[in-house]
Amino acid sequence: MAPFKHSSLDTSLTLFFIFFIIIIPATTSIGVNYGTLGDNLPPPTQVAHFLKTNTIIDRIRIFDVNTDIIKSFANSNILVSVTVPNGDIPSLTNQRNARRWIDTNIKPFYPATKIHYICVGTEVLHWGPQNLVDNLVPAMKVLRSALVKEGFDEIKISSPHSLGILLSSDPPSNASFRPGWDVGTLAPMLQFLNETKAGFMVNPYTYFGWSPANANFCLFKPNAGLFDKATGITYTNQFDQLMDAVHVSMKKLGFPDVEIVVAETGWPSGGDPANVHANPANAAAYISGLMKKVSSGDGTPLMPGRKFETYIFALFNENLKGPSLDEKNFGLFQPNFTPVYNVGIMHASVEAPSPSPLAANAEGPSSYADAPSSSSGGPWDDAPFFNKTTPFTGSPSQAPPLSSTAAPTVNANVHDSSLGTMTTNMVLSARFALKVILVVTLFM
Ligand SMILES: *[C@@H]1O[C@H](CO)[C@@H](O)[C@H](O)[C@H]1NC(C)=O
Ligand SMILES: *[C@@H]1O[C@H](CO)[C@@H](O)[C@H](O)[C@H]1NC(C)=O
Ligand SMILES: *[C@@H]1O[C@H](CO)[C@@H](O)[C@H](O)[C@H]1NC(C)=O
Repeated sequence: MAPFKHSSLDTSLTLFFIFFIIIIPATTSIGVNYGTLGDNLPPPTQVAHFLKTNTIIDRIRIFDVNTDIIKSFANSNILVSVTVPNGDIPSLTNQRNARRWIDTNIKPFYPATKIHYICVGTEVLHWGPQNLVDNLVPAMKVLRSALVKEGFDEIKISSPHSLGILLSSDPPSNASFRPGWDVGTLAPMLQFLNETKAGFMVNPYTYFGWSPANANFCLFKPNAGLFDKATGITYTNQFDQLMDAVHVSMKKLGFPDVEIVVAETGWPSGGDPANVHANPANAAAYISGLMKKVSSGDGTPLMPGRKFETYIFALFNENLKGPSLDEKNFGLFQPNFTPVYNVGIMHASVEAPSPSPLAANAEGPSSYADAPSSSSGGPWDDAPFFNKTTPFTGSPSQAPPLSSTAAPTVNANVHDSSLGTMTTNMVLSARFALKVILVVTLFM
């Protein structure tokens, strides 16, 4: 190996180290879903201040266009994604309505609040009815053109999906979207997302795929994995399996390169007694595995090197959600800002503020609970898990992903490794050190 000859090499090494130091904070940031179905939640101004000063959370998504929240995040440097209530979708196919919607809900707050995405509806294909599904992509396009007319080109439009859009996810190489939704809605949506450089949003919950046999597979813990014969890939966690199933399905429609955004994922720290897997240890294992996965740059077996913009569900435990106890316990934080478990979401040097008197938050379910509750027929009628009469209020999908819940083949011979006890930070810094060494080696 040649010794250092040029001082310029020192300079470039220095630049490399500076480069790495600058990008590191960006790789350890994460988004959260800020749901508001609690009567004991702190006021949005306190929430904005807390997230900004005490956590690595750099983006939030809300399930409506709550102006108190949007205003509270002004000048916070935290990205805010908002949601068009499902019931508003048909009216937004009209250009005048769309312009009025932007005038009312976006214009007064942007760009002081960094509005990032407008999510058009929540899991519209999953919950229906057909009228909303039919109007979804047209509404997205009309809203986009209203944004462009205002000069708000930077704000992206997308729409989150439950994994009920997949016909199957096991093995990932054989995944596809459900017929009917694939060419009818998802292909034109992907075309639009590709044109506008926006992400395809999915809500993968390995929590709903849990079984005693595949617990480690769902929790990013060491396990024998799921072998995909067609590709020769052994999947070591269900998150990768689900993401690759989405990727394969997109590829079948001709859009393998559209970015995938994880709009919701999470694991409850408590639940109904029967759900023994809803506990703080599992929630911490899932969330730390997730954070490592989405920020590492490792990607998935079929998407190596890709990072996924990711929003954990949810910021707070929400006492008005239900009916199951699980639903109330998806939060990273108690309403008094106490972390429910510790996974490195807090800035290392910051203590949680002491609990303060909490203002009651009168917000109820957002208006799309008013959307017609019976379906006029559509692919989801085949879906036994979907309870169309239950208003959906920005919760994790109460329905498990249809086919992905089939327990993956898990070999009984599961090895423990010390990796399971390492913290995310340790793993990340070890990985970082390795990358620096690799880069330095390449340059010598
Ligand atoms: C692939 O998926 C289709 C549709 O779900 C199914 O009928 C077929 O059996 C699957 N093939 C394999 C090899 O899993
Ligand atoms: C997606 O967008 C890229 C870049 O704009 C374009 O080159 C490509 O043809 C598009 N793909 C499809 C399938 O439309
Ligand atoms: C569906 O929701 C309705 C209304 O909340 C409820 O009465 C019914 O028991 C639910 N059905 C299932 C299968 O969960």
